[in-house]
Amino acid sequence: MVKVTVLGAAGGIGQPLSLLLRLNKNITELSLFDIVNANGVATDLSHIPTEQIIHGFVPKSRKDVSQLRAALQGADIVVIPAGVPRKPGMTRNDLFKINASIVRGLVHQAGVVCPDAFICVISNPVNSTVPIAVEELKSLGVYNPAKVFGVTTLDNLRLEEFLSTAIKGATGKIVDSADLRGDVISIGGHSGTTIVPILNAWARNLSSEKYDALLHRVQYGGDEVVKAKQGRGSATLSMATAGYRFVSSLSAALREGKTVQEVAFVNFAQLPGSVPDSVKAHVEYLSLPFSLNAQGVQFVRFPTISANEEKLLAVAVGQLRQEIARGVNFVNKPK
Ligand code: NAD
Ligand code: LMR
Repeated sequence: MVKVTVLGAAGGIGQPLSLLLRLNKNITELSLFDIVNANGVATDLSHIPTEQIIHGFVPKSRKDVSQLRAALQGADIVVIPAGVPRKPGMTRNDLFKINASIVRGLVHQAGVVCPDAFICVISNPVNSTVPIAVEELKSLGVYNPAKVFGVTTLDNLRLEEFLSTAIKGATGKIVDSADLRGDVISIGGHSGTTIVPILNAWARNLSSEKYDALLHRVQYGGDEVVKAKQGRGSATLSMATAGYRFVSSLSAALREGKTVQEVAFVNFAQLPGSVPDSVKAHVEYLSLPFSLNAQGVQFVRFPTISANEEKLLAVAVGQLRQEIARGVNFVNKPK
C-alpha cells in the first residue's frame, strides 16, 4: 500500500499533479489538502475509475490543523506544491517571505503525524525551503536525510528537451529526449546560476555559441514561462509532469521494492556517497543523482564533470551557500 498526500493540491501544480497521481497504479491512496477547494478537486478526480482511495481535506478555520493532520495520517510520501508562485520581475527568493512559513508549518505537521514519510518540497525558493524542512524536522527529532528532497526534476526535463532541440538544430540528428534521461543531468540548485547542466559527451554536438544558449535556457527556463504567462503564475503543467516523474519513482521503490535512480536537491552531507571534499567544504546540499529504495537514498553519486562545468559549479556553490543559510536561519533564529 502506498499513500501519497499532496499539500497545495488545488493549485496550478497541485491539480494536474493530482490527476497524474490518480492514474498511477502503485499509489493505493491519494490524499489532497489545500486551504481551498481540495474537496472539489478530490470529488472530481474520484469519478475517474481506479482502485485508488481518494479524499480531500480543507481546514475548517484559519487555526484548524485537524484536517491537515487527517490528510497526513499514514502518508508514505508527502508532496508540497503549496505557496505562491512568481510574477514577472520577481525572483524565486522574493517568494521566501510567504512560502518559508507555509512550508515550515506543513512540514511541522508532517513531522508530527507521518515522521517516516518521504518529503518532496516543490515550493520555491527550493534552495531555501528544503533547508527549512530539514531544520524543522531536526527540531522535532525526526529528521531522516535519506527521505527529504527538493524537487528539481523540472531542471532535468528542461535540459533533456532543450538539448534534444539544440542537437537537432546544430546537426540535424534526432535525439529522443527520453534517451538523454540520466545521461545528462542538472546538478546544483534550483534557480538561475545555481543550476548546472552536466552534458557528458553530448556537449561535442554544440558550438560554444549554441552551448551558451542552451545553458541560459536551462538556467532561466522558469523565467521563460513566467514571462509568457504574463502575471498568471509560473510553470504548472511541466512542473506537474516533473513532480509526477519524481513521485512515481518513489512509489515504484515503495510498492515494487525497486532500487531507482533519481536526481533531487538533498542534504548529501549525511548520506553515503562520492561527493568530493572540495564541494563538502562549502555546502551540505546539492541537487545530485542517487540510488533510492524503500528506505530512502542509498548512495549519492557525484557525476564526472568537465572543467567548464566545474567553474559553473563553483559559482553555483557560492550562491547556494547564502540561500541555504537563509533557510537554516529562518528556523533557528532566536525567538
Ligand atoms: P498556485 O498559487 O497555483 O497554487 C498554490 C496552492 O497552494 C494554492 O491552491 C493555495 O491555496 C495553496 N496553499 C497556500 N497556502 C497553503 C497552505 N498553508 N496549505 C496548503 N495549501 C496552501 O501556485 P503553483 O503555480 O501551483 O506553484 C506553487 C509553488 O511551486 C510556488 O512556490 C512555485 O514557485 C513553485 N514551483 C516550483 C517548481 C520547482 O521546480 N520546484 C516549479 C514550478 C513552481
Ligand atoms: C520553474 O523553474 O519554472 C519554477 O521554479 C517556477 C519559477 O518561479 O520559475
